[in-house]
Amino acid sequence: MADWRLPAGILAIAALAGAGSAAWDRLRPPRTPRELFQRRCSHCHELPRMNQFGKRNMAGIVRTMRTRNGADKVITEQEAAVIVKYLEGVARW
Ligand code: HEC
Repeated sequence: MADWRLPAGILAIAALAGAGSAAWDRLRPPRTPRELFQRRCSHCHELPRMNQFGKRNMAGIVRTMRTRNGADKVITEQEAAVIVKYLEGVARW
């Protein structure tokens, strides 16, 4: 009779739980430099593949994002320094 309600209810709860954890994940502050990079640098575009750039380019790229592309609204100077250091650390050349 009202059998359809059960699976629909379960699906709704599963959807809510999924949305809830995704929302929570966005609210939770980043805990590592890598997370900070992943979070801040995917704000305006897809997370860029930074391993195509060299160590010497990283500071300039992050600076350009903040001075020309408006990333200073999203990334503080302190966060930028942490991200640059992280990117320089993972750069392959
Ligand atoms: C406030 C928005 C914003 C934030 C935050 C942001 N960017 Fe960008 N980024 C842009 C815009 C605008 C462009 C140029 C247009 C495009 O390519 O989409 C761009 C382009 C890029 C490019 C492509 C440049 C190229 O020629 O290949 C790279 C790499 C990049 N961003 C890296 C970063 C990194 C690293 C961070 C984090 C430190 C970051 N972005 C954060 C707005 C942003």
